[in-house]
Amino acid sequence: MTRIVGEIREGVARLVSAAGGSPEEIVAAIDDLGVPVVADIVLAELRHRADLGTYTGVEVRFALRHGGDTVSVHLPGEPSGAAPDAVVEQSLAEVVQGLFGPRGPRPAATRVLRWRDLDSREFITDPPPTFAVVRRLLDAIDRPYAAGLAELCVRYGSDKWGIHQYPRHYEHHFDAIRDRPLTILEIGVGGYADPGRGGASLHMWKRYFPRASVFGLDITDKSALSEQRLTVLAGDQSSPTDLAEVVAQTGPLDIVIDDGSHVSAHLLASFGALFPVLRDGGLYVLEDLQTSYWPNFGGRADVFDDPATSVGFLKQLVDGLNHEDIEGRQPRATDAAIGGLHFYHNLCFVEKATNLDGAPPSWIPRS
Ligand SMILES: C[S@@+](CC[C@H](N)C(=O)[O-])C[C@H]1O[C@@H](n2cnc3c(N)ncnc32)[C@H](O)[C@@H]1O
Repeated sequence: MTRIVGEIREGVARLVSAAGGSPEEIVAAIDDLGVPVVADIVLAELRHRADLGTYTGVEVRFALRHGGDTVSVHLPGEPSGAAPDAVVEQSLAEVVQGLFGPRGPRPAATRVLRWRDLDSREFITDPPPTFAVVRRLLDAIDRPYAAGLAELCVRYGSDKWGIHQYPRHYEHHFDAIRDRPLTILEIGVGGYADPGRGGASLHMWKRYFPRASVFGLDITDKSALSEQRLTVLAGDQSSPTDLAEVVAQTGPLDIVIDDGSHVSAHLLASFGALFPVLRDGGLYVLEDLQTSYWPNFGGRADVFDDPATSVGFLKQLVDGLNHEDIEGRQPRATDAAIGGLHFYHNLCFVEKATNLDGAPPSWIPRS
């Protein structure tokens, strides 16, 4: 099982990489991985993106051509044996490019779409659910960057929209990098002590970033929620040992989102362990900072600059932005590594970037 999961993960990484290149590179990747493996990856991706939930009664067949062969995948489930409601014929390479390629035109130049009941009069008077199903499936290939984050929060049930109003801030920072093959870790899977519950925001990130590898970490073992492009790990965000094991699995990170316990000491421990493994240009996001003022979460409302609270700690990082201008300052590891801090209601984005612009000329009197 582990070997199969590993193969799929490597296969997806290979396809994502190839989809950023030429059509020939995609064809070569399919040849190397084998058509059945690629068809399985395509099927899982279509299922996730189209999210067909209630449309169980409609059968669609994708006939995917590669070289002289055609491989078929069926949605939403196994073929019933009857003629499918719709058949989509397309080259496998073009579907891979659509699913895993960066932003850009998707001409669907090799696609043929056939409706089984085209001659039926009801097709005009009473459009069938097949139309909606096929549109969702084709949107997964043709418009992978169309859905907004608030819409995806609602679709998957994340409280980042509704209780919080985070999507517009996330989109402000994430839209420009949405089509990159990022590695993303979110602390806090959701569902608390129930191993089978949670994953709303992880599904949202997986859908929002169609080329990314998404990892989730929770103190409750929710590894059963793992699937293609989504790995759920168990561990305590306040334990450096657990976090080292997490990093051994993820490798360098592009984005970390802390939506875990919201206990200040835990936030600081995770930041200390994970910020160093963030890639240059990466973003570290801390959610629900209101708890910095709530004693139940290790916060304080009597003083506002206690560095043991999450917001007090972040305020210190603001001074670090100007570290070259502060005479006699004891250097800190983060001083030269944080290029920006963006504060919003209950939310902060920390930008990892070299911060060594230099102080203004020394002849300007300081005191
Ligand atoms: C607010 S929920 C996460 C919601 C999810 N990110 C979403 O938006 O759908 C917080 C999660 O953090 C987990 N958690 C609590 N303490 C933790 C710790 N010390 N380490 C890791 N996860 C923790 C809880 O089990 C819970 O599932």
